Amino acid sequence: MTQDEMKKEAGWAALKYVKPDSIVGVGTGSTVKHFIDALGTKKNDIKGAVSSSVDSTEKLKALGIEVFDCNDVDKLDVYVDGADEINPAHDMIKGGGAALTREKIVAAISDKFVCIVDGSKKVDILGEFPLPVEVIPMARSYVARELVKLGGYPEYRENVVTDNGNIILDVRGLSITNPKDLEDKINAIAGVVTVGLFAHRGADIVITGTPEGAIIEE
Ligand code: A5P
Repeated sequence: MTQDEMKKEAGWAALKYVKPDSIVGVGTGSTVKHFIDALGTKKNDIKGAVSSSVDSTEKLKALGIEVFDCNDVDKLDVYVDGADEINPAHDMIKGGGAALTREKIVAAISDKFVCIVDGSKKVDILGEFPLPVEVIPMARSYVARELVKLGGYPEYRENVVTDNGNIILDVRGLSITNPKDLEDKINAIAGVVTVGLFAHRGADIVITGTPEGAIIEE
C-alpha cells in the first residue's frame, strides 16, 4: 500500500466523527484532501464547513460544500486535520503546508481535534521535522536570532507567503521534550504570529492509516 493510500484510509475513517446537520472544521494538506473527498459524499447531510486555508476552501466549494466564515461560527463539534509529526501525548508539529495559523484558530473553536495521519508521522520526540513558525515579514531577522538562542537553526522558506501575507521560518535541530513550554516561548517572541507546535491544543483522537485499515486511538 502506498503512503497516499494510507492517508486515504485515515481521511475516510474520520467521516464517522462528522455529525449530521453540523458545520465541520476542515484542515489542510494531502491527507485532508481525502477527508474532503469523503465529506463530499455527505454534503447533503451537513450544513457546511469552516476551512483553515484558501486551498481547502477551493476544494470544499468545488464539491458543493458551503464554507462559513470562522467569525460567524461560535463553536465546532469537530476539527479534522493532518500533522507533520505527532507524539504519544498527541502533541503535534504542523505547518508543513504553511497553514498553521488558520489551523490553530479553527482548532481553538472546536470541541474535538481528530488528527489523520499515516504511520510515518508518529514519533517519540517531536523535532525531526523542521518546526514551522509564521512570522511578520519585518521581524524575520530578529525572530531568527531569537530562535537560535532557543537552540534551533531557522531557515527562511523561500517563495512562500502564507494566506495571511506572512513568511515561514523552518527551525531544524530541535529535540522537543517539553512541547508546551517551547510553544509558549516561541509564541512570546515579538513578530511571531504562530508556532506550528500544537501542544496546548493537541489532538483528542488520532486515526492512523495502515495497510490493515485505519487504527483509531481515542
Ligand atoms: C498544513 O499547514 C499542515 O499543518 C498539514 O496539516 C500537515 O503538513 C500535514 O500535511 P499532509 O497531510 O500533506 O502530510
